[in-house]
Amino acid sequence: MLSPTSTDVIRATLPVVGAAISDITTLFYRKMFDAHPELERDLFNRGNQKQGEQQKALAGAIAAFAALQLEPDQARVDLILSRIANKHASLGIEPAQYAIVHTHLFAAIVEVLGDAVTPEVAAAWDEVYWLMAETLISMEAGLYASAGVAAGDVWRDVRVRERRHESADTVSFVLTSVDGSPLPTFAPGQYLSVAVRLPDGARQIRQYSLSSAPSSGDWRISVKRSGEVSNFLYHNVFEEDIVSVSTPFGDLVLQDDDAPLLLVSAGIGCTPMIGILSHLADTEDNRRISVLHADRSASSHAHRAELTELVERLPFAVMHRWYEDLGARRPEGSLREGRADLGEVTIAPGTRAYLCGPLPFMLGMREALLAKDVPAENIHYEVFGPDSWSAAGV
Ligand SMILES: Cc1cc2nc3c(=O)[nH]c(=O)nc-3n(C[C@H](O)[C@H](O)[C@H](O)COP(=O)(O)OP(=O)(O)OC[C@H]3O[C@@H](n4cnc5c(N)ncnc54)[C@H](O)[C@@H]3O)c2cc1C
Ligand code: HEM
Repeated sequence: MLSPTSTDVIRATLPVVGAAISDITTLFYRKMFDAHPELERDLFNRGNQKQGEQQKALAGAIAAFAALQLEPDQARVDLILSRIANKHASLGIEPAQYAIVHTHLFAAIVEVLGDAVTPEVAAAWDEVYWLMAETLISMEAGLYASAGVAAGDVWRDVRVRERRHESADTVSFVLTSVDGSPLPTFAPGQYLSVAVRLPDGARQIRQYSLSSAPSSGDWRISVKRSGEVSNFLYHNVFEEDIVSVSTPFGDLVLQDDDAPLLLVSAGIGCTPMIGILSHLADTEDNRRISVLHADRSASSHAHRAELTELVERLPFAVMHRWYEDLGARRPEGSLREGRADLGEVTIAPGTRAYLCGPLPFMLGMREALLAKDVPAENIHYEVFGPDSWSAAGV
């Protein structure tokens, strides 16, 4: 907990720091990457840096965490920090690196706010930083321990056993160990990081959800070509190639209870849902399950046939699909034209919902679920990029 003196100072300075936090985080990254170019080249996602997404996520997290020291809400603190800790663990972040971030973040704060940063103000924000950092370090230590690895030691080489087209622009890779030993298991819904060495020498890392069930023994990921890394994987990685990946992490995991399930996805957001459904089918789960998927068309719908097969294997599962363009098809049964609409979907009492897809899609679905009386704490989601949603507290 923050000390009473620091709490007063944070209350007084939060509006000023909050207003300048985007400038501060932008300058922070510039300073840190000038001092440590290897971090920009080999650890951070340079696409997110260009688009300002990571700056936004960091700024949002710090501002939200500081505000939550004034009006405590432990559930929100846990949600925000667990998201970050899982992402950090999947990148192998180590405790010593927090001092590097601290140095450049505070240099940026002083440069942006100038004389407003008195010794008392600096001490109070220092306390907030280390409170956040120490909580993250301890959560990450817990994640490394449960994965059975030393801090940061998450990387391993795996062999591509199979590569398959799952739609016009998506390929899946089945990954297996190089020496035939079993791969660590994972929880349905989790993801792993993939690191590739790009032609200009940079090592870039991206996350991909596991689209297979833990019982398969292998890890399968499905990659939609879009930018630097996904295009690299699509064009360069084939059967028998060796790929560097992390141990699985992630906190969007299937809860082991018997609440009715609603799985809602759009586009490539189908991947964690396919993993979850494969697990439910393999374990002959008897839950009531509604599967909703929206896509541009049948040809862009990755794992289209597999989704239907999985739903057919589950005795109490129903499926609803929407394609913006039905092409020569006609709407029939569970297939409709247009965008996903919860209007016609029955939501069973006590439903637990899992969302994955573009942010505007998920926000729309969340609104519709809240309107149908699904409580916010039963709505779980995964953002396929820096998560600026949790910190915003929508
Ligand atoms: C937890 C998690 C799970 C994920 N699971 C999956 C999954 O299962 N399958 C999957 O395919 N992806 C998944 N992703 C997304 C994946 O990690 C990558 O973000 C995605 O593959 C794009 O990375 P990239 O390197 O190809 O694109 P980047 O080069 O990083 O670009 C990202 C996007 O921005 C666009 N872009 C890049 N530069 C610019 C620019 N200057 N101006 C405008 N637009 C630009 C690109 O076209 C692209 O759409 C997941 C992400 C997370 C965080
Ligand atoms: C208190 C300190 C820190 C805070 C508040 C913080 C916050 C965040 C946030 C909010 C994200 C986005 C999470 C998401 O994807 O949803 C993130 C990602 C990340 N963090 Fe941290 N972080 C901290 C320390 C560190 C340290 C010490 C390092 C290592 C140098 C680091 C490296 C990264 C990287 C590489 C990513 C992924 C970036 C990307 O994909 O663009 N962070 N962090």
